[in-house]
Amino acid sequence: MRVISNTAIALDGRIATAQYDHVALGTPLDRAYMSVLRARSDAVLVGGRTFRNWPLPLVPDAAALQLLEEHNFPDGEAPPIEGRRWFNAIVTRTGELPMHGRFWSDPRVMPLVYSPGTLLVPGAVPGVSEPAAIAADLARRGVQQLLLECGGNLLSQWLAAGLVDDVYFTLCPLVLGGTGAPSLVDGPGFSWASAPRLELRHAHHVGNELFCRYSVRRS
Ligand SMILES: NC(=O)c1ccc[n+]([C@@H]2O[C@H](COP(=O)([O-])OP(=O)(O)OC[C@H]3O[C@@H](n4cnc5c(N)ncnc54)[C@H](OP(=O)(O)O)[C@@H]3O)[C@@H](O)[C@H]2O)c1
Repeated sequence: MRVISNTAIALDGRIATAQYDHVALGTPLDRAYMSVLRARSDAVLVGGRTFRNWPLPLVPDAAALQLLEEHNFPDGEAPPIEGRRWFNAIVTRTGELPMHGRFWSDPRVMPLVYSPGTLLVPGAVPGVSEPAAIAADLARRGVQQLLLECGGNLLSQWLAAGLVDDVYFTLCPLVLGGTGAPSLVDGPGFSWASAPRLELRHAHHVGNELFCRYSVRRS
């Protein structure tokens, strides 16, 4: 199973303000490109905090795909999405998830909730919350590509586990600052020797944004 991540980042690497609120850092084109990566994937994963900020289906939007096609957007091709369904995975310790809303009833969404304990929610997978165990569970379900749309806390865990193949990000033309504000990769950090090294696969400049794809080097 391939694992890719996608994040909108400010010039200083921050992905939200120090209040950890939900903000759309990118333009509509950035959000449309997110639909391309979703369409190429079988599952999308976020953490509980990100889900609480945006408890909506994590599926591609047909109008967004059309918009990119019309703009001849670089790397904008996506496979057909009609009739498809996506695993939408949430990783949570607290189990504090908003249960109202269309996430839980959207026919395109197959919810999965990974947690160390037992939760009484649709799609609960008790006792599974570490990246390797989640990856094994998703692979067993037939997932060939997983898209991580989580914050830096979870992304650091997936990188530390050596499970991330490609890091996509959109560099957005603003700075957020704020000590403790979430960034592309948070967590305890890496030593210099263990820090993942990456190779640039593409960098497309569209308007004031830079759309980048880096692959994690395997040594
Ligand atoms: N700019 C972007 O593209 C982008 C993308 C994603 C997120 N964000 C923003 O980034 C901020 C959130 O960042 P974050 O790093 O806290 O993101 P996150 O994706 O919500 O990951 C953190 C959450 O994951 C759960 N978690 C982490 N490790 C776990 C483990 N080992 N076992 C079980 N559950 C675990 C916890 O959920 P519980 O609290 O439920 O226990 C934790 O609060 C928000 O402001 C969000 O809106 C921005």
